[in-house]
Amino acid sequence: MPPGPHPREVDFLVLGSGIAGLFFALQAAEHGRVAVITKKRAADSATNFAQGGVAAAVAGSDSVEAHLRDTLEAGAGLCREEVVRFVVERGAHTIEALRKLGVEFDLEAGGGFALGREGGHSQRRVLHNRDATGREIERALLARIRAHPNVALLENHYAVDLLTSARAGQPGANRALGAYVLDSRRGAVHRFRARITFLATGGAGKVYLYTSNPDIASGDGIAMAYRAGATLANMEFFQFHPTCLYHPQAKSFLISEAVRGEGGVLRSALGEAFMARYHPMADLAPRDIVARAIDTELKQSGADAVFLDIRARGADFLQQRFPNIYRRCLELGFDMAREPVPVVPAAHYCCGGVVTNLCGETDIENLFAAGEVTCSGLHGANRLASNSLLEGVVFAEAAAREACARLPELPPPPQNIEPWRDGDAEEPSEAVVITQNWDEIRRFMWNYVGIVRSDKRLARARRRALALRGEIDEYYWNFRLAPGLIELRNLALVARLTIEGAMQRRESRGLHYNLDHPQRDDANFCRDTLLRKSSEPRPGN
Ligand code: SIN
Repeated sequence: MPPGPHPREVDFLVLGSGIAGLFFALQAAEHGRVAVITKKRAADSATNFAQGGVAAAVAGSDSVEAHLRDTLEAGAGLCREEVVRFVVERGAHTIEALRKLGVEFDLEAGGGFALGREGGHSQRRVLHNRDATGREIERALLARIRAHPNVALLENHYAVDLLTSARAGQPGANRALGAYVLDSRRGAVHRFRARITFLATGGAGKVYLYTSNPDIASGDGIAMAYRAGATLANMEFFQFHPTCLYHPQAKSFLISEAVRGEGGVLRSALGEAFMARYHPMADLAPRDIVARAIDTELKQSGADAVFLDIRARGADFLQQRFPNIYRRCLELGFDMAREPVPVVPAAHYCCGGVVTNLCGETDIENLFAAGEVTCSGLHGANRLASNSLLEGVVFAEAAAREACARLPELPPPPQNIEPWRDGDAEEPSEAVVITQNWDEIRRFMWNYVGIVRSDKRLARARRRALALRGEIDEYYWNFRLAPGLIELRNLALVARLTIEGAMQRRESRGLHYNLDHPQRDDANFCRDTLLRKSSEPRPGN
């Protein structure tokens, strides 16, 4: 950051340091001063954990139309076709943009891109860096960010709530003015004032007991945007990844779908390759179908896990193509080259989120967003594997273009924004209240709002969510803010909104399967489920 105003007063405030946040920040930094705030360390993002890669129609045998078709097919009637086209058309350009920033993708011996295949893709189209594509992207982008004189990167900073003109009591359309941010090292909440605010806070996998997501995925951006008045959509569509390693110490370690793309076969405990019974694409069927098939197999057999068998590819291939997965499995006692590894589904990706347009803008003026925090219209009822890193870049770029063009017209945000008031808040005396509530939410979400739902389960979950709401609210306002409390409040709200979306959708489609409404009902539900705080029957949290 050059000498000048403090990073608490900037042109662009970026919340989150995954692919979307960093890409946006790099573009915006050519036009103004940027602060990127991130909850823990900068690399603690879902991007960093992405194994599969970036889907893009770059092969001679592939086409934008084929990528479009596969995305629409996975999305089960709810993708917005103009959005899908907008994104997949930018596949090759996105890959070039990432390469220019220093991201390396694996190449074939002849120099062309090495392409992986994943569920729902009609052909190989996933560019990757071994099995740690996200880590490579995060490395390259962070290096650029750290070297940029116009960017301040602030770790250990938790966004608490958005600053908006409505909150400040200003007339006119609701506009974003920045955010209240907790500096967790010093325990102080500051106002970060900005002309443009960009949400790139990622998803909410921590709302479920078992998840492939890192600990930061507590739905903060979704919850903050909702509280600020933004429209959310499709929160009921939570994607469960079919294959996380089943091991008490593995903490839902992901086994990339690319393993099935290279010939991995799912087997029951008795050795049956069962996926052909569920879908013509067998092990490479769309993810919702594979996860539900595994769930059915587990419920029918009473087994704890099914098995992923990639023995046929041998140790040399596995070590070269999947070095991290192979090593981690070995550390935990499984040699993939010699034995099938036990796997179970786990919560992986939130397809719902803050509604954005083709410029990545939300319905709060000057609040832009990209990545998992959004519902852009790309994923519909089920995200096609490896479309999300692509989406993050495409919308970060579109948002940066629009935001930078608008910047010269925007006045600096007003000085008279109220400081955060802790009031009579005390130091929290019992952390157990937070862990207890957090645990309870994640359990009832897993048991009642998981892969297979029913009206009764959803009603039970809603009762629990509403009961907890009062308790968490009371705790929130009586005790001094701490990271765990911020995340718990957000997680509780995301849980409630997921249940709300699931209860409104009285059909089964894509990732939402309800035993009491097992059919897809296009006549009544071929539309987004919109959620707005202003439509709540009672004051929201
Ligand atoms: C995977 O590698 O299986 C995850 C890819 C994705 O979720 O897009």
